[in-house]
Amino acid sequence: MNTSDFLQVRGIKKSYDGTQALKGVDFSSKAGEVHAVVGENGAGKSTLMKILAGAIQPDSGEIILAGNPVRPRSPHFAFLLGIRTVYQEFSLIAHLSVTENILMGQMPTGRFKWWIDWPGARRRAQELLESVGFTAIDVRATTSRLSVSHQQMVEIAKAVATKPRILILDEPSAVLSQKELRRLFALIRRLKQESVLVLYISHRLDEVFEIADRITVLKDGETVGTVIPRETTENELIKMMVGRPLEAIYPKRRKQPGDQLLEVNNLSKPGEFQNVSFSVARGEILGIFGLVGSGRTAVARCIFGAEQPTSGEIQIDGKLIKLKSPNDSVKAQIALLTEDRKRDGLIMSCSVCDNVGLATMDRVSRWTLLNRRQQKELVQAKVQEMSIRPPEINRLVRTLSGGNQQKVALAKWLLARARLLILDEPTRGVDVATKVEIYHLIGELADTEVGIILISSELPEILGLSNRVLVMREGRIVGEFSKAQAGEESLLACATGVDTWMEGSAQTLNSE
Ligand SMILES: Nc1ncnc2c1ncn2[C@@H]1O[C@H](COP(=O)(O)OP(=O)(O)OP(=O)(O)O)[C@@H](O)[C@H]1O
Ligand SMILES: [Mg+2]
Repeated sequence: MNTSDFLQVRGIKKSYDGTQALKGVDFSSKAGEVHAVVGENGAGKSTLMKILAGAIQPDSGEIILAGNPVRPRSPHFAFLLGIRTVYQEFSLIAHLSVTENILMGQMPTGRFKWWIDWPGARRRAQELLESVGFTAIDVRATTSRLSVSHQQMVEIAKAVATKPRILILDEPSAVLSQKELRRLFALIRRLKQESVLVLYISHRLDEVFEIADRITVLKDGETVGTVIPRETTENELIKMMVGRPLEAIYPKRRKQPGDQLLEVNNLSKPGEFQNVSFSVARGEILGIFGLVGSGRTAVARCIFGAEQPTSGEIQIDGKLIKLKSPNDSVKAQIALLTEDRKRDGLIMSCSVCDNVGLATMDRVSRWTLLNRRQQKELVQAKVQEMSIRPPEINRLVRTLSGGNQQKVALAKWLLARARLLILDEPTRGVDVATKVEIYHLIGELADTEVGIILISSELPEILGLSNRVLVMREGRIVGEFSKAQAGEESLLACATGVDTWMEGSAQTLNSE
């Protein structure tokens, strides 16, 4: 035993009725280190973190903190031990303000205990956000009105507001922009110097290689091993995670895009985006790249009918369409995979079958009589094909791992037989092997003449999949690139505004 280890986890086992999520996990971490935990969807990463955070109890095993055996029997107890957690699924209270969320339980009071010092509270929340480098957030705003990336930053600020000894970040970066990620890394480096142990979970291996001092790989509820980034490579890490090397990451396309399917003309929604015009052909994958907050999601929601533009028109197959609600778009065979699966993607308390089945109603019902058996068969086949794990369609979505929830959301729209599929960050929180599966599914769909709009903040995936790429910045389309023109640097330069990235070596990339 290495006595310098600040946190030791030994033989942790946990099963949820029937599923053995952790089969005896061991690992140890030092104070002041960034320890990354990686592994496929369902490997048990979040389960292990929830045990450390006191949110669930292990069946057996020990946790030793600074030489003393501890048992975080509740979140409050874990808090007292100095353990702070930013969960994969947001846990902020939606209808409270940012200030209330950050200062929960420690709102400053005035002379009387019941008198809340609001100006003081807001100042304190603002200071906390600033101290962690997140400045652009209105502390008075109701949390549910913030973008997902801002919500994530509020979560992080809240976790570090009270001095942590261990900070658990369960996929913190999935919703952050590059700039926000840089701020988060700066914060992590500062916490390291204050001897905080940071446990960092991510599916983005480039990030893990940059920030982690050590990386532990979990697979099927067991520890595969712990490695040091500079002594290994991404490919070796993937082999440890997946158990085999991966095939070609991006699909080889069999067909060229065909006739025009969608045309968007001068779509505007003040405050969100202006004069957005573009078209999508059958079998085309149109990538839309841009920083988080550039207006991409709002455009997608308007084309889907979930929001209403104030002006502009949308045509499908040359016919003007008016979408008043997502119902109309389902009828027009337009599907949207949202970036926020918890808010409008999935019903967490329903089964996989009910969720996937939602969009297939018209295929299995005849005169409104739903054929349950047929629906189950369709869903079961899709679940198998997409290797959703575990492949049980009666399972509640809430009990699936994050990445598998994402696959369920995608399965729903794959079964809906859309003509136009809008994918907003489709691989968020998805492991490398599954990403490759999803990329191939997207490629196959496009080859069957489905038009696809792919919104993503991950450059490699935009570049690897798209036939054409649009770049949005501050609510406008600021560039269009053919497959041949699009490169990592040119897209980033365009998305951020050239000068900030290329420092003066200005090139005009706007195609306007
Ligand atoms: N509340 C629950 N009830 C039943 N099974 C669960 C529950 N929570 C998790 N599981 C199962 O435990 C296993 C481990 O899940 P966990 O969420 O820890 O995975 P993960 O490594 O965090 O995956 P991801 O990368 O997708 O977030 C999975 O098979 C999952 O389906
Ligand atoms: Mg998880």
